[in-house]
Amino acid sequence: MHAWLCENPVGVDALTWKELPTPSPKAGEVLIEIKAASLNFPDLLIVQNKYQMKPPLPFVPGSEYAGVVQAVGDGVSHLKVGQHVACLSGTGGFGTHTVAPAALCLPLPDGFPFVDAAAFIMIYATSYHALVDRAQLKAGETVLVLGAAGGVGTAAIQIAKACGARVIAAASNDEKCALCQSIGADATINYTRENLREAVKTLTAGKGPDVIYDPVGGDFAEPAFRSIAWRGRYLVVGFAAGPIPALPFNLALLKGASIVGVFWGEFAKREPQANAAMMKELAQWYGQGKIKPVIDSTLPMAELKAAFAHMGSRGVKGKLVLVN
Ligand SMILES: NC(=O)c1ccc[n+]([C@@H]2O[C@H](COP(=O)([O-])OP(=O)(O)OC[C@H]3O[C@@H](n4cnc5c(N)ncnc54)[C@H](OP(=O)(O)O)[C@@H]3O)[C@@H](O)[C@H]2O)c1
Repeated sequence: MHAWLCENPVGVDALTWKELPTPSPKAGEVLIEIKAASLNFPDLLIVQNKYQMKPPLPFVPGSEYAGVVQAVGDGVSHLKVGQHVACLSGTGGFGTHTVAPAALCLPLPDGFPFVDAAAFIMIYATSYHALVDRAQLKAGETVLVLGAAGGVGTAAIQIAKACGARVIAAASNDEKCALCQSIGADATINYTRENLREAVKTLTAGKGPDVIYDPVGGDFAEPAFRSIAWRGRYLVVGFAAGPIPALPFNLALLKGASIVGVFWGEFAKREPQANAAMMKELAQWYGQGKIKPVIDSTLPMAELKAAFAHMGSRGVKGKLVLVN
């Protein structure tokens, strides 16, 4: 097998494509031949040793992937050789093969494309958990999505629309705004050109959004929070811009608003049954055409460094997928 290896020194430039011995699955594990692996923002952080999870070196990055089961370890009963699966295991995906805990593998329904499967779990699970579970979004409410053309952002647009909400998508350029509109956003704000607060005020007739979905952080968090509606819910999803924003508490008091943390990975660990029910519903929504990953592009697995450069420069619209 071959895989990208993150060794010492860390960083995108130092990654190397290496031949490695193909591992055998231990008890509870499966060996997967990887067909597609998608990039999530944490993949970029983890190879720079900037992510909260710091795997011991050397490791193979690649949090999320899909492929074919090639061997099963002792005690694995829900998967068999030849089965198509999607898996989010945190590492291991940027290569030709990996072993993964069977418990983390979702069997794919017939005809589910590997590229969509590799781009599915993280973005839809995060955005569903955020909007439906944490924010208790209701039909007819208005959602403002920041960084709306990114991975979790595009998923948030589709899920909010599936819930019957009105969506205002905010992104940094017109191309990204157009993409958001093409997947269902009712209105868009180019926050490089427009004043975010003024634009939100105009688009909500002064009321403000009921729910704000924020995977970006940085300088837009405070103006966005100041725009929120009475009883609004501000979803803290991520900090793609880098700096972690701080907010004066009185803003929450004045709007009777809530600052709501979203940590899907921890939710999945602590509440596995609720997570499994959510994944089942998301697979049904995919089958019904309510959600479909937006694929920016597919690149050969060997082009991981170009893929990281595209993501790091804010170029990706939706999801970037590497294929074998
Ligand atoms: N809480 C959770 O459970 C959870 C789960 C998954 C992901 N996340 C977090 O959500 C965030 C987004 O993840 P993603 O995979 O959707 O990433 P992504 O596809 O790269 O999208 C991030 C968006 O952030 C915006 N952005 C603003 N400043 C940026 C900068 N300096 N560098 C890169 N992007 C910047 C970009 O939109 P514009 O150019 O339009 O501004 C970009 O489209 C990450 O922080 C990730 O860690 C959290």
